[in-house]
Amino acid sequence: MERARVRTAKRPGVASPPSITVPSARSPPLPPLPSHPPQKTQAPSIPDAVAAATAAAVAPGTTCLPLLDASAVIASPSYSREFMESISPTHLPPASARQRFAHAFIKTVRAVFDKVTGYDPTGSPSEAVWIRRIIFLETVAAVPGLVAGSLRTLHSLRLLKHDGGFIAQLLAESENERMHLYTFMKLRDPGPFFRTAVLLAQGVFWNAFFLLFLASPKTCHALVGYLEEEAVKTYTHALAEIDAGRLWPPSSGVKPPGVAIRYWKLAEDATMRDLVLAVRADEYDHARVNHTFSLLPDDAPNPFVAPENSSTAGMKKQKVG
Ligand SMILES: [Fe+2]
Ligand SMILES: [Fe+2]
Repeated sequence: MERARVRTAKRPGVASPPSITVPSARSPPLPPLPSHPPQKTQAPSIPDAVAAATAAAVAPGTTCLPLLDASAVIASPSYSREFMESISPTHLPPASARQRFAHAFIKTVRAVFDKVTGYDPTGSPSEAVWIRRIIFLETVAAVPGLVAGSLRTLHSLRLLKHDGGFIAQLLAESENERMHLYTFMKLRDPGPFFRTAVLLAQGVFWNAFFLLFLASPKTCHALVGYLEEEAVKTYTHALAEIDAGRLWPPSSGVKPPGVAIRYWKLAEDATMRDLVLAVRADEYDHARVNHTFSLLPDDAPNPFVAPENSSTAGMKKQKVG
């Protein structure tokens, strides 16, 4: 077989790279592809494949830690029925300038959004209006926790400083809002106009929240606190409509999707009312947490996590580098 050889000029003192052999124009044709792909044995499941790869990478005799089950890293809230039923809309009266700004801003945005989407907080919106509204708002609601969590992560890395226990909770809040979205997405597949609106809203909101968080994290948390107060009101309205038999009555056959049953550990025969109760409890928690964060003194640890996870106090420091 005749082949062309590509060579590079030798330079003194420099090891010559290996020559590259390419087929010449007169090379015989490549053998034809088999008409059927070779039969494979049954593909191993992902955990089996990971276990095999891990075992191959570990020296014989080494004790291997158990593989991390990625599903276990998703925080999964679970509330008592008494707690969920006891929740009602609450309001933190704005006392500081930042709270007054945040409250006025959220009230204005809500009024405009209600007007544009034809939502009447005292009326009986159709199921389509409910789902459209919930999906749109949940696409926005996951942004603050993610922005705050990522900026706090970078701050912690940059200053080689413990964050005080905020990062995991903020990222979990974002994940929780994403689970709200996944749940209601199972009930409706939005069209292109809706998806474009989501894209535009995310482009504006992400950047605005990012810049505001750089300037004033406490104002951002106050904004989220008042936003979540509105979310509790909206889901309380939905519950009233469910109880009145106008939204997701038993005859509609609408049930919480499996992803929601697993995430909130609902009963297999859970109803949409059970689901909305759990989602409202999440929003109530977000309001409480973000209002608290907006009032904490600078450098205070997160009061919602155990002290051993919110500071490096007691850790023995050793100088490195
Ligand atoms: Fe939400
Ligand atoms: Fe929320």
